[in-house]
Amino acid sequence: MVDIGASGVVLPGHVDEKKVHQLILQLIHSKERENALQELSKIRESYEALALLLWHSYGAMAALLQEIVSIYPLLSSQTLTATASTRVCNALALMQCIASHPETRPLFIHAQFPLYLYPILNTTTKSRPFEYLRLTSLGIIGALVKNDSPDVISFLITTEIIPLCLRIMETGNELCKTVAIFVIQKTLLDENGLGYICQTTERLLAVLSVLNVISKSLLEQPSARLLRHIAKCYIRLMDNKKARDAMKQSVPDIFQNGGIVSALSEEDPIRRSLSQMETVIKERTR
Ligand code: TRP
Repeated sequence: MVDIGASGVVLPGHVDEKKVHQLILQLIHSKERENALQELSKIRESYEALALLLWHSYGAMAALLQEIVSIYPLLSSQTLTATASTRVCNALALMQCIASHPETRPLFIHAQFPLYLYPILNTTTKSRPFEYLRLTSLGIIGALVKNDSPDVISFLITTEIIPLCLRIMETGNELCKTVAIFVIQKTLLDENGLGYICQTTERLLAVLSVLNVISKSLLEQPSARLLRHIAKCYIRLMDNKKARDAMKQSVPDIFQNGGIVSALSEEDPIRRSLSQMETVIKERTR
């Protein structure tokens, strides 16, 4: 038996390997799959080898993929139930575990698994089952970019994940927004990623416009966490001449009404960088 602690969390070192192997085998049997997904996703953070086991077990990745693809027809209707969403989210959580593991991450990218998330990331329905699906899918992308691996960014910029994240930044709830902007921030911090975004005016303006929309919304709904992410994106964009020129031409909303930055403490290095940035941008526009 998998040993579940009183809090519902598996105690470290208490995972029964035989049981895990059994659960992985159950993934390929459709009747047992739902339960196996649920049990495996419970132990994903406490059992390190899970990512490797899943990746290398016969039929396991195919089963996870099948779960994700099977929800596609429900995405265009309004009838996604909480049960169906939870089931897919358990499969997505296992994929996140594979995306997080340093050994399986490159394999996961090479096999282009993240492309199967497009239809989910593309949804805009606001109900909870949809929000949960989007957030869990974004979690996979977040897990990929977390470790600052240039290979991950090189992969992402060959996909449509960046524009999908930009849209979620405009339309998503706060949690989704935060993960999406984290992905954009990590892309910008990468040399290749910054070059890619600034390579065409369309891309650059798309990013600046979304950052602007969020800056504006922060005036009504302050969030220090979002503000820090936004600020880091602007500060990094200053490293690129084309981006700098674009910001001088149209001063970002984050600098209008001065009020937003006061959400950060005066000693905060981000606040200082923002003030310096504001000076540079406004000097040349006068
Ligand atoms: N394939 C599109 C491109 O290469 C992706 C894209 C659309 C995009 N909008 C964007 C990338 C905005 C970055 C920013 O341009």
